[in-house]
Amino acid sequence: MPSPTPNIMSTQPASTRITPSILSADFARLGEEVRNVVAAGADWIHVDVMDNHYVPNLTIGPMVCSAIRPHVSVPIDVHLMVEPVDDLVPMFAKAGADYISFHPDASRHVDRTLSLIRENGCKAGLVFNPATPLSYLDYVMDKIDLVLIMSVNPGFGGQSFIPAALAKLREARARIDAWTQAGGQEIVLQVDGGVKIDNIAEIRRAGADTFVAGSAIFGKPDYAGIIKSMREQIAIGETTAI
Ligand code: DX5
Ligand code: ZN
Repeated sequence: MPSPTPNIMSTQPASTRITPSILSADFARLGEEVRNVVAAGADWIHVDVMDNHYVPNLTIGPMVCSAIRPHVSVPIDVHLMVEPVDDLVPMFAKAGADYISFHPDASRHVDRTLSLIRENGCKAGLVFNPATPLSYLDYVMDKIDLVLIMSVNPGFGGQSFIPAALAKLREARARIDAWTQAGGQEIVLQVDGGVKIDNIAEIRRAGADTFVAGSAIFGKPDYAGIIKSMREQIAIGETTAI
């Protein structure tokens, strides 16, 4: 691993965040949906970009990110499920993304793509599918602001949480803690897929600090009630130590 060097870009507080995925929102009313979910307590907005190539589904591009940007002031967290990656990075940066994450197996030059994201003024995230090894982190920890552990195979909302993600979260948490304790920058540990009120406590216990949730929130009648229940469960996960 490279030696940690203090990173002045890092401003992440040591806290937890809920980032609803607009994949499950009503696309005909996206502006209203993101305003409502932020008013209900969402910390970030998660934007799932799928290209019908890296994943079978086809969703949205930078124009939709630009369209929702004026509706909310919270960070927009763009999850690129596309191959190749690099051409889209400046487009999403211009469209108002704060974080841009990509799958290392979708980029021919992972180190270059991470640098490209930061050069475009965004924070950089690396995403791990259920079978993608964390060893991708070995030489690029200093270039990463977020690690995203997929707890489903990417491509669709509404899938069931894969339990093996818990062990992977624990391993990622150990790597990140070792890195920051050695003086490295703070790194967000995000989880994505099948996150619900009834499993978020154990996901927190495994070390995640940032929780993507799509179908658990959008399409339901009471966004604020769900987010409140999720926070209560996260607090329960924290009282039983990692
Ligand atoms: C899956 C996406 C997820 C998805 C989560 O490829 O990356 O963000 O929308 O949806 P739920 O919470 O319904 O599993
Ligand atoms: Zn996602």
